[in-house]
Amino acid sequence: MTYPTFNVSLPARGRTLHTEFVTSVPADPGAALVPVAKGEGLEVPVTALGAGGLLEALESMGATGKAGEITRVLLDGRVVIAFGLGDSDEIDDEAVRRATGSLARALSGVPRATITTEFGVGPVVEGLLLGGYSYAGLKNPGEDDAETPDSTTRITVVGDEGNRADYDRAVAAAESTLLARDLVNTPANFLYPESYAEIISQVAGQCGVQVEVFDEDYLEKNGFGGILAVGRGSARPPRLVHLTWHPAGAATSVALVGKGITFDTGGISLKPASKMEEMISDMGGSAAMVGALSAAARLNLNVRVEAWLPLAENMPSGSATRPGDVITHYGGITSEVLNTDAEGRLVLADAIARASEDHPDYLLEAATLTGAQLVALGNRTAAVMGSEELRDLVAGIGRSVGEPAWAMPLLEEQEEEMTSPVADIRNVHNARTGGMLYAGLYLSRFVADGTQWVHLDVAGPAWNSAGTYGYTPKRATGAPVRTLVATLERIAAGL
Ligand code: BES
Ligand code: MN
Ligand code: ZN
Repeated sequence: MTYPTFNVSLPARGRTLHTEFVTSVPADPGAALVPVAKGEGLEVPVTALGAGGLLEALESMGATGKAGEITRVLLDGRVVIAFGLGDSDEIDDEAVRRATGSLARALSGVPRATITTEFGVGPVVEGLLLGGYSYAGLKNPGEDDAETPDSTTRITVVGDEGNRADYDRAVAAAESTLLARDLVNTPANFLYPESYAEIISQVAGQCGVQVEVFDEDYLEKNGFGGILAVGRGSARPPRLVHLTWHPAGAATSVALVGKGITFDTGGISLKPASKMEEMISDMGGSAAMVGALSAAARLNLNVRVEAWLPLAENMPSGSATRPGDVITHYGGITSEVLNTDAEGRLVLADAIARASEDHPDYLLEAATLTGAQLVALGNRTAAVMGSEELRDLVAGIGRSVGEPAWAMPLLEEQEEEMTSPVADIRNVHNARTGGMLYAGLYLSRFVADGTQWVHLDVAGPAWNSAGTYGYTPKRATGAPVRTLVATLERIAAGL
């Protein structure tokens, strides 16, 4: 498949370079992409090229091998583009992903290049595809086009037959991350509950996943009071999307739940104007689930996976939910809405309650849930809460795939702050501190006993408002798709 992998009705897609896998160096290899590192001095791999004076040529250009460094030399009439991996004794998968991510951005205008890899095909391919991504939205073609690589850059990855499965796996993981980025990057005038549900249906149809879309009448008849309460202020009614990947013979079941607020103004508890536009990313949790589920299907993972994605636009209006309103979640738990900007937990509670009805073995949920996540862990590290064993496993998986994650507790003492005089629970707690943990605790009320579950708060990691680094672009990052894909693989393999 060639990116963009799925044919969906988005107004614009991102672009990235094109990769292909072969088992012998092609006759027209184009530029040679060569990893270099920093040891005592510059270190270059011992290859046919290395033997022919490459070290001297690169040194003469001032190459040191430091991470992210790109050096071009002409050697025996051939263009060599060296990319720095950093200290030679600290090279791991993430160093390779980051270095090849920087490399991808340096390849604009290079039509053809070949890379032979000693570092495992997976990290190289992920780094190239993810790092080469750029999103120009509806910008008209202009002069700065040449600054980004695109599908006219063709990179041949050379490996042996044993690397082919790694290559395919990396392409699936990367492309589903790019899909999530495209969804998150799309402005909210194009991506709203109805259009988003349609786009998800298109993706499902193209990867053998079943889809059901529930509209506002269905939600009303079936008691999804949280999704309705959040969606009622918008002229664009809410939806609940249900996806099913059910390979024959799968014994283990996983439910995925992702926050799908297509835009979060805060509602009547209106947010300040500054940076409000970034709230197009408030559907990032659901986009990650769409990406992860499509990857599971492409990789034919032997696990039953169902996703429940509550989609709503949180707007203030004459029909919006007011502070003080009491709502009834799916399953009957009532909640006093004290702040309409704490809307994520309201839509998620319904979806978690519905998913829990089927008693899945595992429930993985992701959401851009709280500003408090950014305060606690910054904008790159996700918070992971939930069942202790699974929580620690998923946090470790996140770190190993280059989506930093850290375990956080659910605190018993915060239970007292859940009480409301007029409902079973309240949607915001009474204290200034621990807001991220309280949000997790709220969700925990809706998970069935015996289900191993995790909640990932990706408020920071899903959106990069700072500069590009490694293979992470500005705006949508696609986090935590690769954590979810790797977790599903572990579950399919019996953990
Ligand atoms: N979508 C926001 C959380 C968010 C903030 C995501 C910044 C990404 C970047 C969420 O719906 C929200 O508004 N949370 C409130 C909760 C509060 C009212 C208890 C918050 O964190 O301020
Ligand atoms: Mn909010
Ligand atoms: Zn929100």
